[in-house]
Amino acid sequence: MKTDNLILNEFLDDAFNLKSHLMEFLSIKKCDLDDFLRDARTKLANSHPGDSLGNISDFYTDIVGDRHLADLAAWHITSKDYISDTLKLQQKFSRDLVLDFGGGIGTHALANAMSKKVKHVFFVDINQTNRKFVEFRAKKLGVEKKLTFCKTIKDTHISKFDTVICLDVLEHLADPSSQIDVFHEIMDYNSISLLNWYFYKGEKNEYPFHIDDIQIVESFFNTLQSKFIEVFHPILITTRAYRKIKQLY
Ligand SMILES: C[S@@+](CC[C@H](N)C(=O)[O-])C[C@H]1O[C@@H](n2cnc3c(N)ncnc32)[C@H](O)[C@@H]1O
Repeated sequence: MKTDNLILNEFLDDAFNLKSHLMEFLSIKKCDLDDFLRDARTKLANSHPGDSLGNISDFYTDIVGDRHLADLAAWHITSKDYISDTLKLQQKFSRDLVLDFGGGIGTHALANAMSKKVKHVFFVDINQTNRKFVEFRAKKLGVEKKLTFCKTIKDTHISKFDTVICLDVLEHLADPSSQIDVFHEIMDYNSISLLNWYFYKGEKNEYPFHIDDIQIVESFFNTLQSKFIEVFHPILITTRAYRKIKQLY
């Protein structure tokens, strides 16, 4: 098992060997990788069908393909300081059974699997390409025994998690409030969840796939604030730690 500092340094060095994992997984050369990563956010945004999309999750299951891999990889490579702060936050709170909901390219799940405080990580993502890629990365990094890959939380067959990670996902869901209800059900009173959100489509519609409906957002905050209390940490202002509110009766 690695120390927290070593895990952070390995992320800061090469994002856990991300570029080499991408080249091998996608069977592409270095020059093609640069093309794959270039303008990844715009390519992802351009693939969004706008209002004609019936079911929001179809975007992630049927439309994005490997474009989300490109978008997330480009982001994690160019925003290392921000992502490493989220890893520091995990190092403070993660323990035992961890759920990483909407785990993307796996940075957080892989870092948790490397931690000695964590027994097992359940990586849940609706996108099959992401699941396959992170499974491939886990084998490359030698942590595959500490990870299980599922499409939904139900598929994990775990009734209570000690840690719930949900970073940059809530704004991608049709009903983020009901996702908070699900997290409430699968947490004990001493469990912690790490959550952030960005309910904004961007100044120039850079994020057409983000939810920004005022009523949906208000319902999300009502549920969050009625069921959870924030646990202060000094690490990263945009990402919050929560535990369940204990009923007083
Ligand atoms: C912006 S990415 C965030 C990835 C990762 N958490 C991170 O911080 O880099 C959003 C992720 O949520 C996943 N996702 C979207 N809808 C989902 C759903 N209903 N259930 C599970 N995962 C979902 C997407 O496939 C994508 O990997």
